[in-house]
Amino acid sequence: MNGEFEWNEITFDIAKGVEKAVMPMFGTPEAGKDMGENVSGDVTKYVDRVAENLVVERLKPLGVNIVSEEIGNIDVGSDYTAVIDPIDGSYNFAAGIPVFAFSLAVFKCRSPIYGAVYEFVTGNFYEGIPGKGAFMNGNPIHVRKAERGKEAISFYTRGRCTGLIKKVKRVRVLGAIAVELTYLAKGALDGVLDVRNYVRTTDIAAGVLIAREAGALVTDENGEELRLNLNATDQTNIIAVNDRHLLNVILEEISRGG
Ligand code: IPD
Ligand code: CA
Repeated sequence: MNGEFEWNEITFDIAKGVEKAVMPMFGTPEAGKDMGENVSGDVTKYVDRVAENLVVERLKPLGVNIVSEEIGNIDVGSDYTAVIDPIDGSYNFAAGIPVFAFSLAVFKCRSPIYGAVYEFVTGNFYEGIPGKGAFMNGNPIHVRKAERGKEAISFYTRGRCTGLIKKVKRVRVLGAIAVELTYLAKGALDGVLDVRNYVRTTDIAAGVLIAREAGALVTDENGEELRLNLNATDQTNIIAVNDRHLLNVILEEISRGG
């Protein structure tokens, strides 16, 4: 098999399958049960395990490589790699906070060819297709035009660059970065930043493609275009914004060593 599939149909179908399997345990202690460590040393929750088993079972017959948050890499020698976070925001899920999503991106060699995020609670299905754009439920979406002094950003800081907080109007940290990147893409946020050197490709691969296709600038902490390694363990910083001015404000704050 060569990986040239109708990824939109396959992905939507898998996302609906995950939804059916996991939603009955939303906000329950069962969902948060500790199943041991994943490949990055984080805790795998019961809901993560249920969702990932289902996704892997669906993807295996397609003969593509798989990079998934809990089990890591399954390399079958294909040119195509599906990068998955079966549940982004699993703390939220187990705690009963309704911000979490399914995330899947497909790469041919190192280039993304498709990305989707399915937000179970709203039923919104976001897609990014290189050169074609970003979509929510099939309708094109775009980042919004920045308005100075009115910026709303999601900012994962762990004490770094906190001076930035005074330079924007609103900070919202929602606990599911795949979802937050789609909010940037549809113009609900102006920026999504994580400067903890903590997020992994599985968390952001689809969201980055969607945000970029919607017009966002997505860089590392030096302002260079963010490049993602196709594995489940490397950790990175990310700056995703709708406007170069905001990017410069952020980079200046970082260069001050905050
Ligand atoms: C987490 C969320 C969160 C981000 C963490 C991720 P998970 O994903 O995306 O927003 O700050 O870095 O680990 O672990 O709930 O799938
Ligand atoms: Ca996850």
